Amino acid sequence: MLGSGYWIVFQFSNLKMHIKKIGLSKKTAAEMAVDFIEDGMVIGLGTGSTAEYAIKRLAEKNLDIIAVPTSRRTERLAGELGIPLASMNEYREIDVDIDGADEIDPDFNLIKGGGGAHTWEKRIAEKSNTFIVIVDHTKLVKKLGNFPVAIEVEPSERDSVEEELKHLGGIPELRKNFRTDNGNVIVDTKFDIKEPHELEERLNSIPGVIENGIFSKRKPEIVIVGYDKEVKILKRKK
Ligand code: 5RP
Repeated sequence: MLGSGYWIVFQFSNLKMHIKKIGLSKKTAAEMAVDFIEDGMVIGLGTGSTAEYAIKRLAEKNLDIIAVPTSRRTERLAGELGIPLASMNEYREIDVDIDGADEIDPDFNLIKGGGGAHTWEKRIAEKSNTFIVIVDHTKLVKKLGNFPVAIEVEPSERDSVEEELKHLGGIPELRKNFRTDNGNVIVDTKFDIKEPHELEERLNSIPGVIENGIFSKRKPEIVIVGYDKEVKILKRKK
């Protein structure tokens, strides 16, 4: 008994160490992204734990910028830190957008939406001249799909959307106790993703779907990956 108790404690401390290392990898990648920001720029501010490291670093640098947040959560944090904010509606063009991701494949296709903010995140990425994605190394995958695709859905259309998702081979699951900043629900759906681009378009063609978390039309130009002891900057081939 004593032996197995020790084993659990050992496993737990290993897990804590692993989480701490991942946190550090996110932080170093996020802080490097902020080096791309200059005075006078309009910046997209992503959502999630990695993006929050970038937001904190941006506030420390006190640059002369305007930031467009991708969620109310990001808006609150950036506002508390004194970063000047504008809404997405006020800018048709954004210089640099910095955001996290849940998965990224070798062609720079992404899955986003773990935080349920992918609709605004995609709109802002689409408006940006340079889209920088910041991730820890565990987010790099050979093929998208281990992480479910977050699908923002009008609540009144939920049942018919779920039917259609099953018809497409997906396994839908309503995200519990969650509403998006637009007041909609999220249906997280596991897929065997063969063609991310096709699936992204197909999902958005279902009546009642507002937006899905596959980013294969607007891919990042730059991906910054944090590892335990280094950071890599990957640039997309044109
Ligand atoms: C939110 C997102 C996030 O960027 C994504 O979930 C990554 O989050 P984290 O940086 O906390 O791992 O898409 O909608």
